[in-house]
Amino acid sequence: MIYTFTEEHSMIQQAARDFAKTELLPGVIERDEKAIAPLAQIKSMQEMGFMGMMCDPKYGGDGMDTLSYVLAMEEISKVEPAASVVMSVQNSLVNWGIEHYASEEIKQKYLFPMASGEKIGAFALSEPEAGSDATMQRTTAVDMGDYYLLNGTKNWITNAAEADYFIVIAQTNASKGHKGINALIVEKGYEGFALGPAENKMGMRASHTHSLMFTDVKVPKKNRIGKDGFGFKFSMLCLNGGRIGIAAQAVGIAQGALDLATQYSKERKSFGKYLYKHQGIAFKLAQMEADTEAARLLVHKAAWLKDAGKDYSKAGAIAKLMAADNAMRVTTEAVQIHGGYGYVKEYHVERMMRDAKLTQIYEGTSEIQKIVIARALIKG
Ligand code: CAA
Repeated sequence: MIYTFTEEHSMIQQAARDFAKTELLPGVIERDEKAIAPLAQIKSMQEMGFMGMMCDPKYGGDGMDTLSYVLAMEEISKVEPAASVVMSVQNSLVNWGIEHYASEEIKQKYLFPMASGEKIGAFALSEPEAGSDATMQRTTAVDMGDYYLLNGTKNWITNAAEADYFIVIAQTNASKGHKGINALIVEKGYEGFALGPAENKMGMRASHTHSLMFTDVKVPKKNRIGKDGFGFKFSMLCLNGGRIGIAAQAVGIAQGALDLATQYSKERKSFGKYLYKHQGIAFKLAQMEADTEAARLLVHKAAWLKDAGKDYSKAGAIAKLMAADNAMRVTTEAVQIHGGYGYVKEYHVERMMRDAKLTQIYEGTSEIQKIVIARALIKG
């Protein structure tokens, strides 16, 4: 692996760091507590170009590489992962999928406004009975000639409340199994499309997650992404890259918690000395630093492979597995180092611990990442 950290990468990293500090940090505790989405901040992210980072400028994007994207993801996630997940779904699932596999007509109509920051997208794969076992789609898209008739329910959809456009995965021909599944673009205003109530979640509370209900929704045939039956493969291909974004998010959460724990250990005294002077605390911090740096390098490796046009599905799964599990360990240790203060909201680390948990679940649980890694290993 040879990757260069250019001046442009440093500038993007700094811009994301400054944005997180000035625009996200001030209200982050209140937004988490009251489950308020950071709408004004998402608007700023759109204006700053964070919502179309990797997309070709001819479709309204910034044409940046995946390394730039993961650097920005990490910085924003240090402060408010509920904001970075909006960016992650939009960049690496929705925009990337459309740019690589949709028709030119779809790109002009849907990708351009999303990549240029006017509109928001969501990705609807999960269902009440199809989470990890994603081929078991019950939502149906019946071929009616020039449109599909969409019926069913999607669950756990990130960005659902804010999104203008949804990529919806649905079964057209059950007898063909995963080869009978399609990916369709559904607009917010289509008749028969409704949002369920927001989930009351443990973490990432400022990112609103809803179910989607479709009752006889007519979706034009031209809104299908790729050939008939490509929808499942399409969603897997999108998730390969999405997992790199979530891995970067997990590194950011871990680094944010480590920074706070390190700072606290320099301010708080016990038994007559600063916490960091106790070897028990210093060793914890050292392990947190070493593990987070290792996770970061796995994320950068996966990003480099993607930019180099090489296979990155195993590398993305490894990065997500290691970074998410590390985020859970590091945030738990950060709460422990803060003692009683770590358990109260003003000190941020309890929120980070709750947020970290989701990185082990969405875009494929840690167990799903192990399936992806094991299959690649056996295949050789
Ligand atoms: N990359 C490319 N193609 C893949 C793939 C990958 N990582 N994984 C599977 N495929 C392809 C296979 O090659 C196969 O295609 P062919 O028949 O053409 O060869 C097809 O998909 C079916 O594959 P499998 O037979 O391996 O399918 P499976 O039922 O055994 O399961 C799985 C595969 C990896 C477990 C898959 O179901 C999976 O990834 N599940 C997790 C789903 C997930 O991550 N959901 C997250 C929801 S989205 C989200 O969280 C977004 C958000 O809002 C934040």
